[in-house]
Amino acid sequence: MLIDSFNRIHTYLRISLTDNCNLRCFYCMPEEEYAFMPSARLMQAHEIETLAKIFVDLGVTKIRLTGGEPLVRKDAGAIIRSLAQLPVTLTLSTNGIRLQEHLPAIKAANITSINISLDTLKASQFRFITRRDNFQQVWDNIHLLIQQGIHVKVNAVAMKGINDQEIHDFVEWTKHTPVHVRFIEFMPFSGNQWSSNKVFTWQEILQLIESKYTIERLQDEEHDTAKHYRVPGHAGTFAVISTMSAPFCSTCNRMRLTADGKMKNCLFSKGEIDLLQALRKGEDVKSLIIASISQKAAERGGQFVNDFTQLQSTAIENRSMIAIGG
Ligand code: GTP
Ligand code: 5AD
Ligand code: SF4
Repeated sequence: MLIDSFNRIHTYLRISLTDNCNLRCFYCMPEEEYAFMPSARLMQAHEIETLAKIFVDLGVTKIRLTGGEPLVRKDAGAIIRSLAQLPVTLTLSTNGIRLQEHLPAIKAANITSINISLDTLKASQFRFITRRDNFQQVWDNIHLLIQQGIHVKVNAVAMKGINDQEIHDFVEWTKHTPVHVRFIEFMPFSGNQWSSNKVFTWQEILQLIESKYTIERLQDEEHDTAKHYRVPGHAGTFAVISTMSAPFCSTCNRMRLTADGKMKNCLFSKGEIDLLQALRKGEDVKSLIIASISQKAAERGGQFVNDFTQLQSTAIENRSMIAIGG
């Protein structure tokens, strides 16, 4: 078992398949030109499978595939099918554009829940945020998954001055659609135009929603990143992921593997351990994983101040989000 010095048991591994993406969201990509990882640096499908098996031996029971965009990788379908053979709950976080073509692999892998990023319900705003024109495709694929009986969580990064006027529209969407919308507090990563005054907090989001709706708090699952709510009578639900205003690190069970095979014991860890290189050299990967977990900081990589309004994004040492995988 992977237990850290705060007695947290780590059972959830997020594997990034690639840092490439078919969108260009400003909050995820650095402002300056971003050089994608050359393919020789990426974990190959068989290496992903081998590393995943080592994590499973160490107690991992849930694997989430992330990116960049995991489904732009040519062998994404094959990777999904191979990881589905492991005794884990397999799922993915995607921008939704290529879901239709991967539906057969998703179905074959018995994936029952998928997280899809969608920050706006307006095509023009989608183009502004993502610098691409795929709103309708994402929208159609969300409804396609729902029709197929797959549970959909929609991730919307809530940003003041960008999409804060759409919170009510998202909640209204849950009236007849059995979708779970999660508003995510905007987090700082290398070069992502973060500033504290763009963070739309959990408390502010709730206040805004309560100005129009009566809401009830739902029970959160253990280790969940989100705090859940419902408007009574609505088919869907909503939640807030409050990393900035109310971190949930005390129940953390998550680890990350970047597309170039580096282990991060926290989303905000500065340190990384190169598992891919160790695997290629025939070194003891298991011991490296155990060592990484033993060094995990109590909260947010030990990099944040409690009052985020005092935070300068440049003070945080990390990769950009596209190179971590969320
Ligand atoms: P579920 O497994 O469905 O609960 O999803 P998830 O929240 O673990 O994953 P997802 O990829 O959908 O991420 C949603 C948001 O939560 C993103 O903004 C992630 O960066 C953020 N997130 C995911 N895991 C962590 C975490 O361990 N710590 C923090 N602070 N944020 C996280
Ligand atoms: N702050 C909060 N969430 C982010 N994501 C990407 N960048 C950020 C950020 N700066 C979210 C994406 C995706 C998830 C994996 O991470 O919207 O849904
Ligand atoms: Fe875990 Fe780090 Fe996320 Fe906190 S910020 S919940 S410690 S991964």
